[in-house]
Amino acid sequence: MDQTRRALCVQHLDIQFSTPHGMARAVQEVSFDIHAGEIYALVGESGCGKTSAAHAVMGLINRINAPGHRIGGRVLFEDKDLLSLTEEEMCHVRGRSLGMIFQNPLDALNPLYRAGYQVYEAIVLDKIGKIEAWRRVAELFNQVKLSDPEARMRSYPQELSGGMRQRVMIGMMLARNPRLLIADEPTTALDVTIQAQVLELILALRAALEMSVWLITHDFGIVAEIADRVAVMYAGVLVEEADVLGIFDNPRHPYTRMLMASLPRGFKRDGRLRTIAGLLPDPTLEIPGCRFRDRCPAKIEVCATQAPALVEITPGHRVACHVAATVKGDLPP
Ligand SMILES: Nc1ncnc2c1ncn2[C@@H]1O[C@H](COP(=O)(O)OP(=O)(O)OP(=O)(O)O)[C@@H](O)[C@H]1O
Ligand SMILES: [Mg+2]
Repeated sequence: MDQTRRALCVQHLDIQFSTPHGMARAVQEVSFDIHAGEIYALVGESGCGKTSAAHAVMGLINRINAPGHRIGGRVLFEDKDLLSLTEEEMCHVRGRSLGMIFQNPLDALNPLYRAGYQVYEAIVLDKIGKIEAWRRVAELFNQVKLSDPEARMRSYPQELSGGMRQRVMIGMMLARNPRLLIADEPTTALDVTIQAQVLELILALRAALEMSVWLITHDFGIVAEIADRVAVMYAGVLVEEADVLGIFDNPRHPYTRMLMASLPRGFKRDGRLRTIAGLLPDPTLEIPGCRFRDRCPAKIEVCATQAPALVEITPGHRVACHVAATVKGDLPP
């Protein structure tokens, strides 16, 4: 992994959706970098803004699926600010160097076309010959370890199992040889054995293709297994970021600590987050102070009035908490 080169640089990303109850701030002033070649995990409970952030980076939030939305900030990728590109320019980036796999591959695969044809279509954009393109599809199906690739190429998505569809999706993304792969809950819909195989595949391909991966998950077990660095998100803001050892050995934000404490023992393969008491705040309300304070066991007076900034407490370890940023040793339970 190359820490000096950045694959993606997200600066002050802000996303608001128009709802009947007013503007909902799904993502607030989020900034982070993904280094070249690393697997960067974004973790947080349902509704905290993970998918919205990824969709904004991919240019997938638009007037049709989110009328009245507002997006602010900058997303630097290959010397461009993705947020300032036209749809046509963005299409070009998406098809070429930025790929995304979705939680539900059926959302991304067209039920009317055979799996092989959908990967073929992604390849012929490169204007290579038809025979060469089909040879490449077979190669990709092999690469993502689909058994009997010739038969799989002829199958329609709905004839494939969940794990197979996810492999086709990954193959489709790899056809473009992306510099950055965004994987949004790539294994949530899969059973545990298939989940492990897909994770191993992502790891192997990262190494072979030297791509970076932005992994979105609410499964700390997956984070422990494959991530290099981790960011924890709460109600649209980043509350902590560290390398994977830093997060597991020394979680500083009370929210991260509660997430860790709620992990079942031996979470390696069964690491779904259990719920923690309380609810995310209403995203349409302007909240003064820390967004986590209603659920926080460590809150102090200032938390009610001042939003904590994300500050570096040790090299590479950032936390947004008035208490964690000042207490050096053990934190209050
Ligand atoms: N198109 C939209 N219009 C209005 N609100 C939206 C839209 N898309 C997302 N939201 C809201 O933005 C917030 C963040 O949602 P998002 O899907 O990004 O969360 P998430 O962290 O990916 O959750 P999950 O783990 O369940 O996938 C939620 O309150 C959601 O209701
Ligand atoms: Mg999501």
